[in-house]
This record gives sequence, structure tokens and C-alpha cells, in this order.
Amino acid sequence: MHSAAMDAFVAEVDARTDILQVVQSYVPMKRRGNRYWGCCPFHHEKTPSFSVVPDKGFFYCFGCHAGGNAFKFISLIENVTYFEAIKMQAEKLGIPMPERERTPEQQARDAQYANLRRVNTMARDFFHNCLTLTRYGEPGRQYLAGRGISEATIKEFSLGFAPASWDMLSKAFLKREVPAQVLVEAGLAAERRQGDGLYDRFRGRVIIPIADIRGRVVGFGGRVLDDSKPKYLNTPETILFNKRRLLFGLDRSHRAIQDAGYAIVVEGYMDAISVFEGGVHNVVATLGTAFTEDHAKLLLQYTPNICFCYDSDAAGQNATIRALGIIQHTGANVRVIVVPDGKDPDEFIRRHGADAFRQLARDAQDLVTYRLRYALAHIPADSPQGKSEIVRAMAPVLDGVQDASKRLEYEKQIAQALLLDEGIVRTELRRFARQEAPVSVGEERAPVRQAAPRPDNAVLAAGRVVIGAVCHTPERLAELSGELPPEALQDNVQREILQYLQGEYSAGRTPDMAQATATLSEAASDELTRALTEENAPGGEAQAYADSVRVLRRDWLTRQREAHSRAANAASQQGDAARAMQELSAVRTITQQLQSL
Ligand code: CTP
Ligand code: MN
Repeated sequence: MHSAAMDAFVAEVDARTDILQVVQSYVPMKRRGNRYWGCCPFHHEKTPSFSVVPDKGFFYCFGCHAGGNAFKFISLIENVTYFEAIKMQAEKLGIPMPERERTPEQQARDAQYANLRRVNTMARDFFHNCLTLTRYGEPGRQYLAGRGISEATIKEFSLGFAPASWDMLSKAFLKREVPAQVLVEAGLAAERRQGDGLYDRFRGRVIIPIADIRGRVVGFGGRVLDDSKPKYLNTPETILFNKRRLLFGLDRSHRAIQDAGYAIVVEGYMDAISVFEGGVHNVVATLGTAFTEDHAKLLLQYTPNICFCYDSDAAGQNATIRALGIIQHTGANVRVIVVPDGKDPDEFIRRHGADAFRQLARDAQDLVTYRLRYALAHIPADSPQGKSEIVRAMAPVLDGVQDASKRLEYEKQIAQALLLDEGIVRTELRRFARQEAPVSVGEERAPVRQAAPRPDNAVLAAGRVVIGAVCHTPERLAELSGELPPEALQDNVQREILQYLQGEYSAGRTPDMAQATATLSEAASDELTRALTEENAPGGEAQAYADSVRVLRRDWLTRQREAHSRAANAASQQGDAARAMQELSAVRTITQQLQSL
């Protein structure tokens, strides 16, 4: 959707947006100097560390490091994409979207989506009315009552009942002039094998409508009332219904997830409904498929904390282990709620109540502990091979732990459980982690809104000063590319920013900050904002810039010197004297450069 008209539209919305006004419509702000301060809406705090610099057009929180321009703010607080935020702001300002040229194919596709949405909504109402208003719904009402599901919950989730008839829905909908083809495409009906006409897909089942994140019905699940098979029948894959991307309940639970600060993931929609009924609202369910990376990304838009609560039988445990494998590299903070005595969350909460369930959630095991217990339960730890196998199983899990002191704690825990020396465990973990194909540098990670603050140090701080200074005075980039090319930065987020800035400058463009936030990765855009909003050290900008370039050059040269010195050692061990000399001469040159800094 890239066009000159669209660019002009975005530029106009950007130009007419006052970030302070936007922010103040959500958060009270007080002026101090050239900044406005308030309590951060993105993390809980009592003293304001959230600031807006109106003339720079940015907000930044010194507590949780959330930051960006006005659109970024809207996208975070409204939980919409960056582009949707622009559209929302345009609507507020009364700026019309440029008309898009639509091809006939696109128009046909739009119509198909609209038809499917409409028929799904109709079907939801049909099933719901059948359950709540008609005599056909009686078996469904009895079934749900037997499961302790209240009328309020039936209403909240628009639960329904598909009458035990071959074609009640099809007939009714055809009469209302829904084309047969649309009924089939929506997965509500199928063509009869013999003879003409349609038959209903869902018959004699309690119906659970499944919505997308915006609450639009995209499919249904249907449960039988007795023990016959299949227990659940779902809408087949359609253009709207993709089980790998949908999480049941998220349209209702995302606010509760943000408030609670974590999401509970259960396996079945009846579990989700039951837990919700019990008053725990931060819950979603997968739809009878494994947990996918898409699911993780979806949840990470609301919270970095994900808590699995699968059935406690063997199948549920295996599913948990697989889910943990999917999620451990996404940056999520994962825990596992263990439901006692072979129960699923639905049975547990019905038997023991919501408070007991909340207690289980508080007692949730962290990822490493859960994984270790699972390994210990399944691999005999009394032989060296068994121990080694357990360490191998734990390596990728520990690899995902960013916090060094936490990691140490876990290494200790594993060593104690296996009666091994901590040092040995550490060495083995590193060795296995390397074999396990680590996440490559720069690989796309799911966006984590309140990501753990990046570890900070003097080099990173210097990087930000340099980035801030070249944004301020782009002419500095001309000289900088010789002294400090982007690859000199060790941090890949800062490297991405400097590369971008250099690229824009070489192409003869003045780096534009709104454009930059839209182009850069989430992490880079956050870091750029931080660079632009952090106060400079006393002594003036020019001084801070020169000092910081020096810090970064020293860091870069030191790393190069180490690499050459390692290469020299390796060469002399291999008896390659010429090569060793060459490397040593490089070491000397760099040493001189370092001394003259
Ligand atoms: N499922 C499915 N098809 C089946 C069985 C299960 O699609 N034949 C999916 C459904 O999405 C269901 C989930 O897997 O919600 C969990 O299945 P299961 O644990 O068997 O169901 P429960 O949630 O325990 O259902 P109930 O309490 O109604 O027996
Ligand atoms: Mn169940």
C-alpha cells in the first residue's frame, strides 16, 4: 500500500499531530523545563518517569524505556498496529484516507470477506437464539447447566446450540437469501453427496463462537452432548478461520491480560470459559492445535508474561513441553501452572473454586524449574549418560534466560538436582547450547512491549549519545563513517540504527524521525527514541559526542586487537610463522591507534 498519496497522507497526519495533546488525552502531564512529566501508562508506578518532549515529537519512559512518536504511543495504548494508529489519528483530525485503487480481484475478495463475516454473525445469532429461546435448545441448556455454566456466561460468550436436524440452519439461511456457496465457504454447510441441496455441519451440538481479536466471529466449535465422537467439531479452515493464528477469548481477555500483567493459556475453550466464569479473565485457549509462534506473537502484544495451564495428563504435559520449545526464544517470560491430580483447569476450578485456581497461578513454576522437573521425571538421573541427557535438554531452555544472575541460580539448581559440580554443568550447558543452533543475531523476534530493559553499560550509553548527536547534526555522518562505521558497534540494535542513518545520509536524505520509527525494528526504534530523549552529559553536546566516539572507537579497536591476537596464536600453533607475524603487526598497529586515542 505504498503510494505517493499515502506518503502525503501520513506526512500530513504527522505534521498536524501534537504529541502532547495526544498523550494528555490519556495521561495527565505536568510541565518541567522543556519536558512534560506524568505517570507511565505502560507500567505501574507512583512517581512520574514518563516524559514528553513536544518540540521533538517524542515520548519516553525512563522506567520501562517505552518510547517513540505520537503514533507509537497510540499504537501501544490502543493496542493497534502502527498504521492503524495513524488511521485513528487521521480520523480524529478529520484527514481523509486517500482512496485506494482497487482491482476487480481485490473488490471480489473484499466482498467474499464481507459475506463470510455477515453469515458468521447470522449463524452466531441463530445458534444463540436456538439455545436460549427455543424448545430445540432444551438439551443444550441442560448440558450447560450440568457443567455449571451460568446464563451470564452463555450471554457473555454468545454460546449457542445447533439443533439436531440435518438442515435447519441451511434452510433458514437460504430462505434469507444467503447463497449456498457462501454457506459452504463459511464451513456452516456442505453439499449432499446424493441429490441436491445442503446439510448442516453442526447438528445436535453446543456451539462456541470463535472470534478474532476485534470480536468478529470467524468460526465455531461444537461439542457433542454425550460421549460420542468426535467430541469437538470445528469450522474447517477458511479465509477467516486459521487455528494457528487464533486464540479463543483474546477479544474479551486482552484488557484483563494487560491489567493482570500475564496471560493464561489453556488447551480447550471449555477450560477458558470455565476459568472466565470463575472470575479469572486473563485467559485464552488454543483451538485444538499446538501452540504456535504466531500465537506467541499475538500474546506478546499484550504482555511479556505467558503462563501455560494445560491438562495435567501425559498428553497435556507433552503439549506443554512442545509449547515451551516454541516460545523460549521469543523473549517471553514463561511459567507453567500445574493443575494437581490429573485434572484440566475446568474440572479444577469447578471442584475447588476460583480462589484455589488463583493460588495455583501464584504458585506457577518458572520455565526452567518446570522443564527440569519434567526431565527428571522422564530421564533416569543416576547414570552419567542420563545426567548428560538432562543437561542437554536444559541447554536450549537456559539459553533463553537473559538475566545473568538468574542464569547462575538455575545452573546451581540443575547441578544440585544432578549431584554435579556447578562448573561442570555450566561448561556442558554452554557446549550443548552451541550445538543447538542458537538464535542468530538480528533474527526477528516477536515484539515484546514491556521487554526487560536491555542491559546497559558505558559503551551502549556512548552509542546513544553518538546516535542522538548525528540525528541532531546529520553532517557529522560524513566524517563519522571513516572513524566509526556502523559495523564498529557491537550492539546490533544500535548498529541497525547507525546503518539506517548512514544509508539515508548517503542517499542525500535528511533522516526523518517519523519515517525512521516506521522503518526500523521495534527494538531499534525504541533505542533511537531513547537516544533522542536522554539528557546529554554536562559539558555540552559537542564534548559528549567527541568523548563518546572515542569510547566506541576504543571498544571497537580493542575487540579487533583481541581477534588479531587470537589469530596470531592460532597461526603460530599451526606453524604458520608468516601469518603469525602479519597478525602480530596488526596487533601493534591497533595498539598504537589505541594509545593515540
Ligand atoms: N479438540 C478438537 N477435536 C476433538 C477433541 C478436542 O478440536 N475431537 C480440541 C478442542 O478445541 C478442545 C481442545 O482440543 O477445546 C481440548 O480437548 P480436550 O482436552 O479433549 O477437551 P476439554 O477441553 O477437556 O473438553 P470437555 O471438558 O468438554 O470434555
Ligand atoms: Mn475438560
